[in-house]
Amino acid sequence: MIEIEDLHKTLSGRKVLDGLCLRVDEGETLVILGRSGTGKSVTLRHLVGLLRPDRGSVRVFGREVSALNDRELREHRRQIGYLFQDGALLNWLDLAENVALPLLETGDQSRAEIEARAIEVLSLVELEEHRKKFPSQISGGMRKRAGLARALVSRPQIVLYDEPTSGLDPISSSQINRLINDLRQRRGITQVVVTHDMGSAFDIADRIALLHEGKIRAIGPAEEIRRSPDRAVQQFLRGEIDGPLSAEGRHRIDDPPTPPAPGGAPPREAATAEAKGSEEK
Ligand SMILES: Nc1ncnc2c1ncn2[C@@H]1O[C@H](COP(=O)(O)OP(=O)(O)OP(=O)(O)O)[C@@H](O)[C@H]1O
Ligand SMILES: [Mg+2]
Repeated sequence: MIEIEDLHKTLSGRKVLDGLCLRVDEGETLVILGRSGTGKSVTLRHLVGLLRPDRGSVRVFGREVSALNDRELREHRRQIGYLFQDGALLNWLDLAENVALPLLETGDQSRAEIEARAIEVLSLVELEEHRKKFPSQISGGMRKRAGLARALVSRPQIVLYDEPTSGLDPISSSQINRLINDLRQRRGITQVVVTHDMGSAFDIADRIALLHEGKIRAIGPAEEIRRSPDRAVQQFLRGEIDGPLSAEGRHRIDDPPTPPAPGGAPPREAATAEAKGSEEK
């Protein structure tokens, strides 16, 4: 369904993707993990032709995305739902209009059909009561859910999610995870999910991939990744500061050496006592 081969991309003089290879099978949910700035969003943007490869191939539905003309690209994007990292709602449209936008662009359904479908997907994310509100009138988590409703409105065969649960409370996150699982199990939708939420990753993933230094460092079924002997994978899953994914010595504030305290008291206690003393003065 999705085949990325030897993808290279340099942005602002920095090599972001450096020979990335990735395959996503039909009906599968693939979770992409990776440190901030490693190119997860950049990878997703190649799938819908918002970025073009410097080198390499990005094939979706068997088509080379960079070879599509404008009309084909519009058609291509219609078949792919995309939840952008920031929701990407239009501030001058209310939620129902924002969600209906992909359907209005195609123009092959009546106004009433479009409205009914917009309300249907808004109710999936529990926003139907808020459909007349504008993005500025709702919370960040609600904007995220509205973005999700818009990604699903045209019944796409592929859905890309860029951090679907970030900024959501744990109950809303679980609802989103359940929705993603339902879409896989009941509709057989192919899904690519970028997330930093480990609970969500293991809840929804068929396979998990770790992106590092412009390439896939590890990929496999979720349970295999959980038990992976790769230190980079374990560092990421456990959120450890030191390890192969960290730049050395970049995460510490250099404390000036603490002078020995008079009377042999441990330095930290001495400092506290001093602070207390000065407060009492
Ligand atoms: N349009 C652009 N122009 C220039 N540089 C860009 C552009 N888009 C992304 N980048 C750079 O590419 C790198 C990867 O960005 P990307 O947004 O893919 O990171 P990410 O893995 O999604 O991170 P995060 O987890 O923080 O969302 C970053 O250094 C970013 O500054
Ligand atoms: Mg991102």
